[in-house]
Formats: sequence, C-alpha cells, structure tokens
Amino acid sequence: MHRASPKTLAILFSLAQQHKHLVINVPKFRILIANEQIVRRAREIANQIQREMGDEPPVLVSVIEGARLFARQIQLGLGGRLPVHEIRAASYGKGTTSSGTVQISGGPSVPVAGRTVILLEDIVDTGRTIAALRERFLNDGARDCLVATLLSKPSRRVVNVLLNYVGFEIPDEFVIGYGMDIAGRYRELPDVVIYEAEVEQAAQSACS
Ligand code: IMP
Repeated sequence: MHRASPKTLAILFSLAQQHKHLVINVPKFRILIANEQIVRRAREIANQIQREMGDEPPVLVSVIEGARLFARQIQLGLGGRLPVHEIRAASYGKGTTSSGTVQISGGPSVPVAGRTVILLEDIVDTGRTIAALRERFLNDGARDCLVATLLSKPSRRVVNVLLNYVGFEIPDEFVIGYGMDIAGRYRELPDVVIYEAEVEQAAQSACS
C-alpha cells in the first residue's frame, strides 16, 4: 500500500480548509494507485491503441465527468491532435451503489456512422454504463465501439462487456480521485484512493 503523496496531502488539507464541515483525516485514506502509475499505464494504452488503429482515426468519446483526466492522457499519448468528444452517463446519484438505470446525454458532434468509436471510461463496475453506451453507438451506425477504461472491478460485473483496454483491475472497493467522485467530491485528487465512509465520519465527528 502506498503512502499519500505530498500533492494528495496538500489537496486534502486545502479541501478541509475550504469546507470546515468536511475535515478529512488524511493519513487514513489509502492510496490504491499513485498518479505516476496511472500516467504511465495510460501512455501504454495509448501506444497500444495507436498500434492497433491503423490509418483511420477513431472517434474518441470520454464518459464525463469521471473519465476526463484519463481521456486527456490518452489524447496526449495519441499525439494530442484527435479531439475528445464527451458524453454523460449517470447511474449513481449520491451514493456508492449503482441505481441500475443509465441515463445518457450529450455525445459527439461528428457522425459516427462507419467509424470506430473508442469509449474512454474511468471505471467499469457492473458494466451497465458501458453496455448502454456501446449499444447507443452501434445503433448510430458505428463500425465498432471499443472500450478503454482506467479501472475495472471484475468481481462486480453484472453485464458481460468486452473491455479492449484496461488500465488496472481493482478489488471491490469504492474509489475516488483522478476524476472519480463520491457525490461530486474528491475528483481533484491526483491518485486513486479508496473511499472509506467511516474514516470521513470519524474525522467529521472529531471536529464537531
Ligand atoms: P457501472 O455502470 O456499474 O459499470 O458503473 C460505471 C460508473 O459508475 C462509472 O462511470 C463511475 O461513474 C461509477 N462508479 C463505479 N464504481 C465507482 C467507484 O468505485 N468510484 C467512483 N465511481 C464509480
């Protein structure tokens, strides 16, 4: 297990200062994947995509908001010239378990018919979100719809989806940071961190 990086500590402390009601017991948050590992792995995935894509550029689609940072790394790894389109898919609301239904909004501003779409996702959990998005793009006439995800929790899968590029497989833990949130918080943490509600509650009650 890694120790919190100085940057993570700085961000957590500044969050705690801005939101006095949310004082975080920093040392107890466990880092699962450090920022440097994420960046390195994203580069490897981008290289693999580049090798496998041939001449025709794919349509990159980032599932916002969680995948923005990962999508940016992939975009840079592919040379920085391909645009990243955004699509919103929501199934979580405010908690740590999926509601089961996926609401999709937005999407690429270019036609996808006959092209290969690559969905850039932060984490695949039950698989419902990615399955719904793939279906949407294949219905729109995409020749293929591949999936690149930073994280995957295989033990949680409900829908069988093919993940073409996976950054890291992780155990059944709710994670935050590197774009991922719980109820809109902690996205800005540079590392992937295991969210522990009891840590947050203990820190809050210690300060109230
Ligand atoms: P799925 O549809 O169950 O695969 O859920 C995928 C979506 O749920 C992701 O795009 C995330 O927004 C969210 N999600 C799943 N697990 C986590 C987690 O551990 N932390 C943060 N968000 C998660």
